[in-house]
Amino acid sequence: MRIDVLTTFPELFSPDPPAALAVSIPGRARRAGLVQINATDIRAYATDKHQKTDDRPFGGGPGMVMLCQPLWDAVNAVEAADTTPAKRILLTPQGTPLTQPLVEALAKEPRLLLIAGHYEGIDERVIERLAPLEISVGDYVLSGGELAAVVLIDALIRLLPGALGDEGSNQADSFSPATPEGLRLLDCPHYTRPREWMGVSVPDVLLGGDHAKVDAWRLDQKLARTARRRPDLLSRPMDPFP
Ligand code: ADE
Repeated sequence: MRIDVLTTFPELFSPDPPAALAVSIPGRARRAGLVQINATDIRAYATDKHQKTDDRPFGGGPGMVMLCQPLWDAVNAVEAADTTPAKRILLTPQGTPLTQPLVEALAKEPRLLLIAGHYEGIDERVIERLAPLEISVGDYVLSGGELAAVVLIDALIRLLPGALGDEGSNQADSFSPATPEGLRLLDCPHYTRPREWMGVSVPDVLLGGDHAKVDAWRLDQKLARTARRRPDLLSRPMDPFP
């Protein structure tokens, strides 16, 4: 998979630690060639001598608005660098909420182009012309779309074949289909050694070696935890595009 990121902070997507996508599973996946992440500085497409990428909003008010032209030129140049068509995505708090089904759908795309916007905004005309899929990582405001892009990329990479040491371990994650009806549940509790810690023992069923019983216990725990913490997940299926 090829992921291009358009940003004014390309260093956040560096392949070298301590950048978030240079360590752990994303770092390994990049080094193994499962995903190519190219960050492009929108500023490089500014045409004025100060390399301006934003300006004050018409109508007044606080903050700055990203200019149409540098973003438009950057998208066109980056898209032209590879013949594989890119799915355009804009990270914005006004977008479709990011969920596991949406991550699963995007993980099948050969190429994504992520635009990290800034909350004060991007000139609406360039958004209309680019017509990206708009995605939000939650109902809160980040300083820019970069960290949202990092979240999306991390969630995507763990679904790429070969990204996890233990194939299939992503199927046991929270929000993966866990029942025959395809319900997406929160994960169950996990335990490791020692068997007893601070007077608290690991549940007996996990020590008995009966895999069918372990599976049944885990499903029970997932259902109970989901009912307690996120009853909404039990009442409606999760759509990639709600
Ligand atoms: N940019 C700022 N806040 C954001 C959010 N919650 N999701 C996606 N992009 C953002």
